[in-house]
Amino acid sequence: MRIVDATSEAVARAAEAIRGGGLVAFPTETVYGLGADATNARAVAAIFAAKGRPRFNPLIVHVASFEEAAALGRLTEAGRTLAAAFWPGPLTLVLARRPGCPIAELVTAGLDTLAVRVPGHPVARALLQASAVPIAAPSANRSGHVSPTTAAHVEADIGAHVQLILDRGPAPLGLESTVVDVTGEAAVVLRLGAVAREDIARVLRHGVEVATGGADAPASPGMLARHYAPAATLRLDASDVHAGEALLAFGTPLPHQGAIINLSPSGDLDEAAAKLFAALRALDASGAKAIAVMPIPEQGLGEAINDRLRRAAREE
Ligand code: TXA
Ligand code: MG
Repeated sequence: MRIVDATSEAVARAAEAIRGGGLVAFPTETVYGLGADATNARAVAAIFAAKGRPRFNPLIVHVASFEEAAALGRLTEAGRTLAAAFWPGPLTLVLARRPGCPIAELVTAGLDTLAVRVPGHPVARALLQASAVPIAAPSANRSGHVSPTTAAHVEADIGAHVQLILDRGPAPLGLESTVVDVTGEAAVVLRLGAVAREDIARVLRHGVEVATGGADAPASPGMLARHYAPAATLRLDASDVHAGEALLAFGTPLPHQGAIINLSPSGDLDEAAAKLFAALRALDASGAKAIAVMPIPEQGLGEAINDRLRRAAREE
């Protein structure tokens, strides 16, 4: 069985696999990651193969501490401020690569910048400590699928490609990290995520822009317009449910007979974020061809939830 309880013994085995150039899936507080030694180009290539991911999509490098991050990339003042406030945690900073930075070129897809994150999840931290190398890890799903929030999701998507899936139950936040570019004067949000934009603005003491890259020139190269896609069609801001549709509810649900998942009966956006991807997978599995999605308020994590839903709803 590839899925194993994330005991310290299992983490030691996983670290061994990483150091040997293998692939390991592990939980972070955001979603499950597909990890490899970021300094080993062949191991990193195996990540792209496992995901079936286009090569131009750079990966996040996970490290155990601020000091390790600072050794790989240059931290501007905004970068330091955000790192102090949110690391360890669900924030990824895009930094200028330092000369001599040992991260494989393939990780950054030839860019002279580097996305770095110090995760807070105890299993991710234990794995980083035990393997003692920076770990490149995208979300552990096949390219184009929604991110995995459980070990079972990972097994279903890419199980055959990994040596080990460390299991520690559902990812607590359920939404990917917020990616912020701090290479320039002003910090720019490249991907909305588990740290709300308002919280970043509060820490920086001024508003922050969210970059609007189109599908052809996405600001964060991974943000292809249609990305977090279930097989079913999504109909957003639904005020009723059509025949044959499943319902993704928020708050008091619309009247409905068929498959339904309520992201948060009490209208809590953090709870909704945590449940979002598992709900999309489950409603997809119900066989419904379309999913009616109730309105989600555009505040706090609602902004990131709506971003994912809009991408999933876009037809190609
Ligand atoms: O929560 C997360 O961030 C998860 C966990 C495993 O850490 N990882 C994740 O990785 O979502 P991935 O590969 O699915 O998404 C990484 C995002 C993409 O949008 C990618 O374009 C962006 O980070 N990114 C990576 N390196 C970048 C760089 N140098 N410049 C701009 N964007 C970058
Ligand atoms: Mg991803």
